[in-house]
Amino acid sequence: MIELDDFSVGFGAGTALRGATLTIRKGDRLGIVGESGSGKTMLALCLMGMAPDSAQLSGRLSIDGRDMAGASEAQWQVLRARRIAMIFQEPMAALNPLRRVGDTVMEPMRVHEGLSRGAAHKRALALFEEVGIPEPVDRMRQFPHELSGGQRQRVLIALALACDPVMLIADEPTTALDANVALRITELLVRLARERGMALVFITHDLAAVARTTQDIVVMYGGDMVERGATADVLAAPMHPYTRGLLAARPDPTVPARNADGTRRRLPSLPGSVPPLNALPQGCRFAGRCPVELAHCATRRPATRLVADNRQAACHLLEEQAR
Ligand SMILES: Nc1ncnc2c1ncn2[C@@H]1O[C@H](COP(=O)(O)OP(=O)(O)OP(=O)(O)O)[C@@H](O)[C@H]1O
Ligand SMILES: [Mg+2]
Repeated sequence: MIELDDFSVGFGAGTALRGATLTIRKGDRLGIVGESGSGKTMLALCLMGMAPDSAQLSGRLSIDGRDMAGASEAQWQVLRARRIAMIFQEPMAALNPLRRVGDTVMEPMRVHEGLSRGAAHKRALALFEEVGIPEPVDRMRQFPHELSGGQRQRVLIALALACDPVMLIADEPTTALDANVALRITELLVRLARERGMALVFITHDLAAVARTTQDIVVMYGGDMVERGATADVLAAPMHPYTRGLLAARPDPTVPARNADGTRRRLPSLPGSVPPLNALPQGCRFAGRCPVELAHCATRRPATRLVADNRQAACHLLEEQAR
């Protein structure tokens, strides 16, 4: 369905995405993880034809076998309406506070498919049921502020499904929710993807959520795809030092939050943060924060090695070890 080949996004001197290569097929469930600023949302926006005007794009993006380089806004709109839908990172911003949520969900059906009000109402009602909103008839008449965070997220999922997309991109759909509600939302996304045969791209900081939700995972850092593979394999045996750091920084639910003497246990965390785009090293982006850095890491970009079938990582240390 979607193929990215050596795809980059630049802003002036900085690179928000560097040589991204990715294939997404029908029914795939793919997780994209990485710290804030690693390029996850930028990648998603490019797949939707919504990169900012100031971005310089290069490389190849094809959707349904068709090169999208010169696609017009009208062509993208058709794709966005009928093929690819996205749940955006800011749930409140995506819902008009002055409109009843039922009307919001009905709108794309009326605009893009020309459904009558009655037919759109019927379909919206079925979607509200499908995404598990109780008392859907009453809920459809409510305004966003009258719903809980979890219900608002369900409304956004219903909105994304309004025109039966074949791929759903969910950008941090659970970050604003408490753990129990987040769990139910991820279960819902997996069920919808399975039942509809829909591809799911799940963007998150939450490694536990990605483990529950996806089959494959791409780990991003500073605009690079540093590691990828089956989710279970990558989480069980990470190869890139950045992935190892992310996993070590994850709170372990089996470890008590306090030490024996009652003091708060400190979570391990990656030292530092992703530098601004124009300050990233030219070689491996992780150089400067990497605990096992070699002399040439900051200046030479590591090649992406195919370590095993469906398992890749880009790290000089792996190349050294392979020699
Ligand atoms: N319009 C823009 N102009 C310039 N730089 C931008 C623009 N939009 C994003 N960036 C930069 O691109 C990089 C990637 O941003 P992106 O939003 O994709 O990160 P992210 O991985 O989604 O982070 P988060 O987890 O915080 O959502 C960041 O360094 C960001 O500052
Ligand atoms: Mg983001």
